[in-house]
Formats: sequence, structure tokens, C-alpha cells
Amino acid sequence: MKTLHALLIAITRAALMSPVANAQTTPTTTAEGNNELRALLATPGDAVRGKKAFSTCEGCHRKNASGRSDGTIPRLTGQHSSVIAKQVLDIRADRRNNPSMQPFVVDPAFTMAKLADIAAYLQSLPFEGSIGKGPGKDLSLGKQLYDRDCASCHGANGAGDPAKFNPIVAAQHYRYLLREVTAIRDGSRGNSNAEMVKVVQPYTPAEIDAVSDYMSQMAPTRP
Ligand code: HEC
Ligand code: HEC
Repeated sequence: MKTLHALLIAITRAALMSPVANAQTTPTTTAEGNNELRALLATPGDAVRGKKAFSTCEGCHRKNASGRSDGTIPRLTGQHSSVIAKQVLDIRADRRNNPSMQPFVVDPAFTMAKLADIAAYLQSLPFEGSIGKGPGKDLSLGKQLYDRDCASCHGANGAGDPAKFNPIVAAQHYRYLLREVTAIRDGSRGNSNAEMVKVVQPYTPAEIDAVSDYMSQMAPTRP
């Protein structure tokens, strides 16, 4: 009995540690979402076609996908294709709250093949455009919190983890990060990893500010 239990734990651990197995586990909150995501991840994306399809998105995300430093629009350049895929499916199905973008991705002309292409295109993009960095008021506090509470998932350098759908947070716009971390704490973002919510919930406004500032100052990076 004891051995069987140990074996089960070992198998579960192995499954959790294998990137491929992980990408196929259940990251969204619905079975339908997970099936869609699995199908999407199995669809090969074409970055050249993706560049063309991205014209639907440029009005808001800008031509080079660099977003806006005022915090309204995130930078998408270099982001993991798995993260792009998950976030867009979550927005489309209302698991992530984004009423302004949703009409563009529920449109039947926006196919899953197009999304696979766009995700490949965005991941391939080099870092471009300027970053809205934070004021740099308390970066030592920001680093302390980040290393303690965030690095395990988002990586020491903010490069995320594509197999676990953990986004790159390095060099994202400060005002966007500030808004997202606040929304994650308050539960208004919609799709926030439950373990992350637990660590962010006790944060004071000054701590949210410091950690967001710190992430915005990290050099652009990929794993
Ligand atoms: C009407 C404006 C608008 C359009 C058009 C638009 N988006 Fe967005 N998008 C947004 C906003 C605003 C957010 C941030 C939402 C938030 O604050 O949670 C966002 C967030 C995202 C995110 C999540 C990024 C992250 O770091 O989590 C992805 C991925 C994305 N958009 C992809 C796309 C793609 C692909 C298209 C084209 C098919 C598109 N968007 C079209 C406004 C838009
Ligand atoms: C257990 C893993 C985990 C931990 C710990 C964690 N995160 Fe996250 N984080 C995620 C995942 C997964 C997402 C994507 C949200 C989703 O799809 O549910 C995310 C999303 C985010 C986003 C939104 C990025 C974007 O582009 O929209 C920010 C900002 C963020 N995390 C900051 C933090 C900060 C700050 C901490 C530490 C205080 C932290 N996270 C701790 C897993 C984690």
C-alpha cells in the first residue's frame, strides 16, 4: 500500500516536471477550455501568416506589438506562444475579463488556425519599442518580494515558463503590471492562478507598486 502510494507520488511528480506533459495538463478552469487549448497547442503556427493576421490586433497592440506605456495595452513581443494562446482563449470565453478586446476574438473570422499563427509570430518578435518603466522608488523592496513570492513561477529574470503558461513579466509596462497585480489581488482579472492570488492578497499598495516597478525594470528576456 505504502509502496503504491509512493509510486503514485513519483508518477505525479514526473508528470508535473515534464514540460510536454505539463503543457497538456489542465490550465484553464473549464474542460472545454482545456480541450480547445490542447488542440490549439497541437496546431503548428506560421509566423509569416501570423504577421498578416496580426493586423486585426494592431489598432490596440500597435504595429510592433509593443503595447502602450500608459498601461492600457500590454506588450506582446516575445511572449510565449503558449501564454498568448491561453490568454486569448480565456478572453474569448470570458474567463479573463476584457470586454474591449473580446469582440475581435469571438468573431467567427478569427479562427484557431489564425490564433496559432499569431502566437508563433508574437513569440518570434524581438524586443521593440520603449518600455514604460516605473519610478524606481523602492526597487530593493520590489526585488525582495519578487524573489520570495514570484520567482518560483515567473523565473528569477522574469522569463516565465512556457510549459506552465507562466507569462514573461520582465520589461512589461509598469502601469499595466500595476493594474494587473491589483486586479489579481482583487479578483477582478478573472483568470488568476490560485496560488498566485494567495501570495498577492496580503500585499499593501506600496508592495504592489514596488514589485510592479521591479518587474518593469528587468531586462527583456526569454528562458
Ligand atoms: C480593442 C483593443 C484590442 C484589440 C483589437 C486587441 N486587444 Fe488584446 N488586449 C487588449 C487589452 C486592453 C488587453 C489587456 C487587458 C487587461 O488589462 O486585462 C489585452 C490583452 C491581450 C493579451 C494578454 C497579454 C498578457 O500579457 O496577458 C493577449 C495575448 C492579447 N491581448 C492578444 C490580442 C490579439 C492576438 C489580438 C488580435 C486578434 C488582440 N489582442 C486584439 C486590447 C485589445
Ligand atoms: C504559482 C505560480 C505563480 C506565482 C507564485 C506567481 N504567479 Fe503571476 N502568474 C502566474 C500565471 C499562471 C499567470 C497567468 C494567469 C492565468 O492565466 O491564470 C500569471 C500572471 C501574472 C501577471 C499578468 C501578466 C500579464 O502579462 O498579464 C502578473 C503581472 C503576475 N503574474 C505577477 C506576479 C507577481 C508580482 C507575483 C509574486 C507576488 C506572482 N505573479 C506570483 C503564475 C504565478
